[in-house]
Amino acid sequence: MPHRRRPHCIACGALCLAAILFLCLMGLNAGPETPPLLSVASTIALRHGVQMPQMGMGMGGRLKEEWHGGGAVAAANDAISVGIRHLDTAQVYGTEDDVGQVVRTCGVPRDAMWVTSKLNNWHVCTMSFNETIASLNTSLTQHLGLTHVDLFLLHAPPCGHVIESWRALLHARDALGLTRAVGVSNWNVARLEALSHAGYELPQVVQVEVHPWLPQHGLVDYCHAHGIAVEAYGPLGPSARWHDARLGVIADAHGKLPQQVLLRWLLQRGIVPIFGTHSPKHLRSDVDLYDFELTADDMREITQWGANKSAREYVFHSSQWADDDVASCLERLGCAPLLGVP
Ligand SMILES: NC(=O)c1ccc[n+]([C@@H]2O[C@H](COP(=O)([O-])OP(=O)(O)OC[C@H]3O[C@@H](n4cnc5c(N)ncnc54)[C@H](OP(=O)(O)O)[C@@H]3O)[C@@H](O)[C@H]2O)c1
Repeated sequence: MPHRRRPHCIACGALCLAAILFLCLMGLNAGPETPPLLSVASTIALRHGVQMPQMGMGMGGRLKEEWHGGGAVAAANDAISVGIRHLDTAQVYGTEDDVGQVVRTCGVPRDAMWVTSKLNNWHVCTMSFNETIASLNTSLTQHLGLTHVDLFLLHAPPCGHVIESWRALLHARDALGLTRAVGVSNWNVARLEALSHAGYELPQVVQVEVHPWLPQHGLVDYCHAHGIAVEAYGPLGPSARWHDARLGVIADAHGKLPQQVLLRWLLQRGIVPIFGTHSPKHLRSDVDLYDFELTADDMREITQWGANKSAREYVFHSSQWADDDVASCLERLGCAPLLGVP
């Protein structure tokens, strides 16, 4: 008697085939998640859906003197020619005019460029709400010549009353459209916690000194856990450390320079390096970071070098309080002194 397939067997077979096909397709997509490849065009997502280019060129600091007489404009244009789209200036740097000129004339669409500036609450400790808005407007209309910046930071931690300025920054972003994102610089976890305890929105970005000898583990972990992007200034650390034999071994293993390893270490930690150079040769080296990857062992090794030593002499350095002290600091002092509230 000829074998006749029963209808439910056919259905079973079809189901099995469908299941196998489904599993194969899942297998293609479901491996361990591969992080997107880094490139000079990589961006970091900020809260409120803003994308910030991950590699930023610093337009201030120690380099200011060399940048007189058109030097800053030439350096920023050169940075753009090698793919940099993120320029970091500040009211105190004296380079807002140069940055504005470059952004307006470089030929890259405005919305593809990222401009950060910072409120000069470094020398003027306490600014009212209105003074803060006026100061940002002065940057935009009299120096940058732009309708908005992409990020505006409080440059220094509170040496006076900081809340009015913070409220003004949020208003400048949400109601006036003068900046797309807001943040703070040189703050530590205690101050961020105080801001949050006082009921204010946390910054979208925190800019502090970070490099392997000041790894800021506690602050970086806190920021990433709270959806705050971390920008590293002084990313190369003290130049005396570039000859560290352990750094040399890792650099040689990848055929790269010590400075490139230092910058790559930050990128792989999901941090935004804000590097500075006025040398075209160093610029090209500082963006040549995308043809190698530090191994997990390299990352672990470098991460252990931290001596928590600052290359700077700022008295209000952000690691002034150990992270362990945050809870007791808040308990003892409350939020107000940490925010400069009288
Ligand atoms: N928020 C704040 O309070 C704060 C404070 C400080 C800085 N910042 C920002 O961060 C930016 C960068 O800070 P930074 O200038 O101290 O950072 P950095 O990039 O760590 O250091 C810059 C120094 O490294 C040298 N350099 C750069 N690339 C090099 C390379 N490939 N080989 C050898 N030397 C190299 C530069 O010299 P050459 O010019 O000779 O290349 C310069 O002397 C500033 O411009 C500013 O925008 C912010």
